[in-house]
Amino acid sequence: MLRYADPPILLENVFPDVTQVHKLLEREAPYTPLGGWYNPGADPHARTRPMWFQNDWVHDVYAAEGSELFLHNPTYIEAAKNFYNAEVIEPHSVYVNIMAAIVDGGPAHTDNSRFHGRERANTPMWLLRAMLWSDLFDDYEIVQATAIWWLDDVEEGGLYFWPDGPDRPPQHHVEKMANTALIGDNHGMFHQVGPVGPFDRGTILVTPSAQLSPSENGKWVVTDHGEKIYTAPLSGYRVSVLWKANVYKNHEEREQKSANPLTMTNVINIFNDDLEEKNTGFHLTSDNLEDTETISTISAIYAEAKPINALKSVFETIRQ
Ligand SMILES: [Fe+2]
Repeated sequence: MLRYADPPILLENVFPDVTQVHKLLEREAPYTPLGGWYNPGADPHARTRPMWFQNDWVHDVYAAEGSELFLHNPTYIEAAKNFYNAEVIEPHSVYVNIMAAIVDGGPAHTDNSRFHGRERANTPMWLLRAMLWSDLFDDYEIVQATAIWWLDDVEEGGLYFWPDGPDRPPQHHVEKMANTALIGDNHGMFHQVGPVGPFDRGTILVTPSAQLSPSENGKWVVTDHGEKIYTAPLSGYRVSVLWKANVYKNHEEREQKSANPLTMTNVINIFNDDLEEKNTGFHLTSDNLEDTETISTISAIYAEAKPINALKSVFETIRQ
């Protein structure tokens, strides 16, 4: 079973001065709609996406100028050490979400796991999800700490989270969110972005080519195929910055785990032992790994939990 995380730690007044964050936001513009959740290859002129913009500030091969403000944030590192009772915290990713006018929630989910030797670059996403929910690969998981920080208070724009597990009602962090952060285990704990105002125009949809940028008058503008769709001061958008770090109890654990990366053959063998024990009659091979039937069978056997009292996701609403 998925471990049920402790409630996240709330940090307040994270930055004494947010001017540096404003500069970083401006330098890293434009922002583009979140992609990959649904409908790949859709008509590029169809308005199929909510105003949920995203940009990476730090990943494997990139670090935005000034992003160390978040990446090496000593408050985050200290909080992550306390949360996990761990000595080694290795920050690796920072990204930003900027949202407005979304009447429904985001998807209720846990973040995607990483395992030593297996990650998105070399393993299909559905298999990584099944690995998480099977609980067969816990020894290989790279434990992740996540911090979410909010720039301003906006209309709604809260975060629901399920610290007591998916079968218990969620808690809600909303209002007085400006310059606060929640730090905890978003890989073990379901969470969901609540509706984001303003709500007077309903959910405003854009095409995958839309861009969000600051304009000369200080407002931030969504432009879509040359047309201005939406204009508001930055404080009218829900801006959140996410930070992720690898967590190890100590250096010995890091060394030991790193020395034993999972190969795809290991993954197949571990699943097959369990499939046999469960008398499923199903056998994974490197040849049937990409089959639709394999995906549906494995995803059904190692099914994901569904958290109660979750809001409908805007991505479901758009698909209908
Ligand atoms: Fe998440």
